Amino acid sequence: MARIPMIAGNWKMNRTVGEAASLVKELLPRIQGVGGVEVVVCPPATALHVVQGALGGSDVALGAQDMFWADWGAFTGLLGPPMLLDVGCRYVIIGHSERRGRFGKPDESLKPEAARVFGDTDASVNLKVKAALRHGLVPIMCVGEMLPEREDGRTDEVVSGQIRAGLADVSPEAVAGIVLAYEPVWAIGTGMACDTLEANRVTAVIRKTVRDTFGADAAEGVRIQYGGSVTDQNAHDLISQPEIDGALVGGASLDACRFAQIIQVASVIAKNTRKS
Ligand code: 13P
Repeated sequence: MARIPMIAGNWKMNRTVGEAASLVKELLPRIQGVGGVEVVVCPPATALHVVQGALGGSDVALGAQDMFWADWGAFTGLLGPPMLLDVGCRYVIIGHSERRGRFGKPDESLKPEAARVFGDTDASVNLKVKAALRHGLVPIMCVGEMLPEREDGRTDEVVSGQIRAGLADVSPEAVAGIVLAYEPVWAIGTGMACDTLEANRVTAVIRKTVRDTFGADAAEGVRIQYGGSVTDQNAHDLISQPEIDGALVGGASLDACRFAQIIQVASVIAKNTRKS
């Protein structure tokens, strides 16, 4: 079975409710009839409900940017899985480096005050992944190394460790159905996307880790996106790599034209190649 590439837009802390609805209304006509690719938008929590309405009967799916692992309770400021399902989410981003307290600018990445701002760890990422799966939400679990880790030659070890810890106690069948995103921290929001061959290489390392831990079916099924300064200019080179099953797009997903172009690129690649 060929893996269907996925293009997801992570809007982060951007757009009012009205602006979010307008962005969806600008996007939909630009991707009408575009096939072979799954599209997801992840607006801020305040706009989830309205965006779900604006998506209407389109094939574009709704995703949240984070969640807590408990269903309900005295957890001020948080959202649980039933709330995300209630507003129509199918996906949820988990373990984004901005939640793990790892910020994009290399010069800030090791400052103590920048670390642990939101406190996600491999252990809490694992609890969130399992909670999402229990509720039928599909996790988009992010992994990626910081610049000092890359410079120390520890990239493969870091991403493999994040995969094993984040997916601990998840069944191979469930792993086959989730989405992973390789997002090198130094490439996020910097305009410095990872070299395409290197992004493909690390994605292969991630897939091998999944194969070694969960078996061949999980490795063949799991979709692994690349994220980090993806634009309409570099999308083709990145998404056409054999291991890369789409993109998790930040800044460029806030522009309907550019996001639509990335989706179209992925659609053409999907029609011309079969990744499995
Ligand atoms: P940018 O595309 O803005 O670099 O953000 C990537 C990202 O963090 C997506 O989750």
